[in-house]
Amino acid sequence: MNLSQLKKSVTGIIENNTSISYKLQSICDLLKQEIEYYDWVGFYFKNGDKQELKLAEFSGEPTEHVIIPFGKGICGQVAVSNKNFIVQDVTSQDNYISCGWKVKSEIVIPIFVNGENIGQIDIDSHTVNPFTSDDENLLEFVCKNVAKIL
Ligand code: SME
Repeated sequence: MNLSQLKKSVTGIIENNTSISYKLQSICDLLKQEIEYYDWVGFYFKNGDKQELKLAEFSGEPTEHVIIPFGKGICGQVAVSNKNFIVQDVTSQDNYISCGWKVKSEIVIPIFVNGENIGQIDIDSHTVNPFTSDDENLLEFVCKNVAKIL
């Protein structure tokens, strides 16, 4: 992965004079297209005052998991732990919501606005054990920059 080039592209999207929704969609599309082992890229955000996440923009196959209660699955656990969650092999997880048999691994990074965990970026991969510190580095950069426009 060309980390610095990808960060530049993300910065370009964030600084463009477009809507928040267009920026989030563009980031999903960019990451899915540029990183071959990213097969689904999406943003989930806290759904108002409810203790649940709601799917926002995504790139990849539509999922039935549009609403995820806090604590459920990898995404729901990140909503309460406030920590990155890297699953190199989804068969190792009991508290996991499957989005299809093809998905082998997943990474979820929380988004903080004024110290509050307001959502996350979620990546599904069809490859086992694909993620390195570069993925965390890139996705934390994405989340920090997305936080600036929310
Ligand atoms: N696998 C996730 C559910 C969301 S999908 O990956 C799009 C989870 O366990 O929370």
